[in-house]
Amino acid sequence: MKIHKDNDIGLDAYIVDAVFTPRASVKKQRSVYSDLHPQQLLATCIDALIDRNMLQNPGRHPDYLIAGCVSQANDQGANIARNAVLLSGLELDVPAASLDMCCGSGLESINMAVARVASGIDQLTLAGGVESMSRVKMGADGGGMDGGSEPLRRKWLQMPQGASADYLAHKHGIKRNELDQFGLHSQLKAASCITDDGDCFDPVHALVELDGQVLLKADNHVRPNADLAAMAALHPAFQVYKTDFFDYPESVHTAGTSSGIADGAGLALVASAAGMRRAGLIPRARVLGVQSLGSNPLSMLDGVADCCRLLLQKLDLEVDDIDLWEINEAFAVVPLIAQRSLGIDPARLNIAGGAISRGHPLGATGAILVASMLALLEREQKRLGCIVLCVAGGQSVAMILERTVYNRREGASLKLKGRARNVGRKSNKADIA
Ligand SMILES: CC(C)(COP(=O)(O)OP(=O)(O)OC[C@H]1O[C@@H](n2cnc3c(N)ncnc32)[C@H](O)[C@@H]1OP(=O)(O)O)[C@@H](O)C(=O)NCCC(=O)NCCS
Repeated sequence: MKIHKDNDIGLDAYIVDAVFTPRASVKKQRSVYSDLHPQQLLATCIDALIDRNMLQNPGRHPDYLIAGCVSQANDQGANIARNAVLLSGLELDVPAASLDMCCGSGLESINMAVARVASGIDQLTLAGGVESMSRVKMGADGGGMDGGSEPLRRKWLQMPQGASADYLAHKHGIKRNELDQFGLHSQLKAASCITDDGDCFDPVHALVELDGQVLLKADNHVRPNADLAAMAALHPAFQVYKTDFFDYPESVHTAGTSSGIADGAGLALVASAAGMRRAGLIPRARVLGVQSLGSNPLSMLDGVADCCRLLLQKLDLEVDDIDLWEINEAFAVVPLIAQRSLGIDPARLNIAGGAISRGHPLGATGAILVASMLALLEREQKRLGCIVLCVAGGQSVAMILERTVYNRREGASLKLKGRARNVGRKSNKADIA
């Protein structure tokens, strides 16, 4: 693969804005979105971006919409992206496509939008994802892990994700107690961000209303009172797969160390410099680079570190140049392996919790992480953020963002330090002037 050593590493692609619906657990008393069609969750995000960015104004008309969705069956079938466009305040001439890259769907959709605007095909593109796991259960598309393909199964016998996570913990020597500690910290970090005054993600929330009532103001999967002893007593969740598939000694992931089943949607407005000029919009972040990478489908969630390494190498960045990391907590073992393999400072990792505490509405999570990263970079006044998700089938998808020099709130340039000064050298000011 060709590695670009170019100094001007930023792409001609900017995140103008991004939002997500607070995530709702599917557990009965907390499943506040279960009466809503999943199209409504995505349309809420579309309408929020229309309002926040006045997309009805001349020159601000989006060219395209791409939405990730994993279980594309029943309510989520029939190209949910297009049906959400029709339900929203967008004009009828906005075309839309639904994309399935398993848990990477939301981020891959944004990465595809990045490619569309950077190539000049579009100037303003909406991209993100949606999943209503209360209405369309995981696996509802009937494909299982491999589409039920015997020829493929003879070549690659793919484990269910939970079993793969247990296998990886064994492979990397990660013990149950370390996983429990990680799960606990996910809860504590999330809980510390959610107070009576709101959530650190309030600035990027698209609130869902029904009959004029806001259904949820912050992610409700979080367990603020989590404690290690109760977590240590939980039964392994994926024991059932162990004997059927692979012979690893122990099932170690539990409900406390696996991503939560949840409903939600997220969406970003992605633009090229020409798009921002046309629309008169100011970006919140520049996309420095994006990466997708295939890895071994047996240890299917194990490719995250390699995917990040490849992207960092292309951008001539070091791990320590990244101020904040969002590594999807599909299972505790995934961010733990990546953190250790890359040598990430734990204080920079998933600082507001993640999918274990906040929930993982599969097709939406990548987009939710992009919106979360914007909010966190702005709150922490940091510059570079990396978002990465593991993907079933042995894949990973990543993005590195740079908070823009011209920030909505600050309106002034950031003081850049050290070797990172040349990153994204071509200033946004020059681009959008
Ligand atoms: C792990 C999994 C099977 C658990 O599902 P579940 O049983 O419906 O989960 P629950 O939230 O009901 O938790 C089960 C029990 O553990 C308890 N629990 C969960 N987290 C806890 C914590 N941190 N501390 C203490 N108890 C906890 C719950 O209270 C519940 O107890 P109860 O049965 O007495 O009410 C499910 O979350 C899952 O499949 N996650 C992974 C999804 C996935 O594969 N996504 C794709 C990733 S690649």
